[in-house]
Amino acid sequence: MISDYINKITVGNCAEVLKDFDGNTIDLTVTSPPYDNLRTYKGYVFPFKKIANELYRVTKEGGIVVWVVADATIKGTETGTSFEQALYFKEIGFNLHDTMIFKKQNPIPQIYRKRYNNEFEYMFVLSKGTVKTHNPIMVDTLHGGLKLNGTTYKNYSKDEQKREKLAKPVKDKKIKGNIWEYVVGKKAEDQEAKGHPAPFPSALVRDHILSWTNKNDIVLDPMCGSGTTCKVAVQHNRNYIGIDVSEEYCEMARNRIEIYEKQATLEFE
Ligand SMILES: C[S@@+](CC[C@H](N)C(=O)[O-])C[C@H]1O[C@@H](n2cnc3c(N)ncnc32)[C@H](O)[C@@H]1O
Repeated sequence: MISDYINKITVGNCAEVLKDFDGNTIDLTVTSPPYDNLRTYKGYVFPFKKIANELYRVTKEGGIVVWVVADATIKGTETGTSFEQALYFKEIGFNLHDTMIFKKQNPIPQIYRKRYNNEFEYMFVLSKGTVKTHNPIMVDTLHGGLKLNGTTYKNYSKDEQKREKLAKPVKDKKIKGNIWEYVVGKKAEDQEAKGHPAPFPSALVRDHILSWTNKNDIVLDPMCGSGTTCKVAVQHNRNYIGIDVSEEYCEMARNRIEIYEKQATLEFE
């Protein structure tokens, strides 16, 4: 039953733990899998297809999965695992709603191998049917308030007819683009996750949670590591579910979330 897992961090292989959830219950998943065995997490097994199928089953109609992933380069070629995973999600029924980019403002310098320094990861935004919640983030426009000259429209079918139209001033705000930039590991709010090798920037999770959910919705991270997704969910009065295969990371996540939980006003019915 889903209620056994709400606002808790559970130790286990998420492919197994998710089987216990009722279908159509999760509003948003924000997660990041192990990338091509780049890092050795404590004792993990990673059955991608089983996890993907469970995520489809537990996601509500109109709900979203944000899958943050990058490829390793092995023997001169990128593996392409990210693309394979995105296409598999499509095959099982998700819409590939948006391929977004997580650009790192402070990417790790790499040994030069005749290619440009890698400084981004994919954020595949997958939806189960038509997206039910989108609270778009707005940003300033470059030329907000600027008054443009009138535009002359000519009607070519009647060449003597001309029409002058005064353009409206440029709007102050526009919907943010789909390349999102973050500093990795340096912000004060991210210092709590220091013991984990690959935590999300809290700001990245915040932007997704505010975009795709409303207060009291349920946010899942089935590979929650240091618990960033769950912590940010609590900070914004969303219910969370965290799962990680490592007991040590689960403990780290619980300690991290506890302090914010005391301040939150959550309602789960
Ligand atoms: C990229 S890290 C996620 C970090 C997380 N986003 C954070 O902010 O700390 C991937 C996590 O997946 C966990 N993991 C790997 N395989 C798993 C599985 N089958 N079930 C649950 N967790 C798994 C690892 O222990 C690791 O903590």
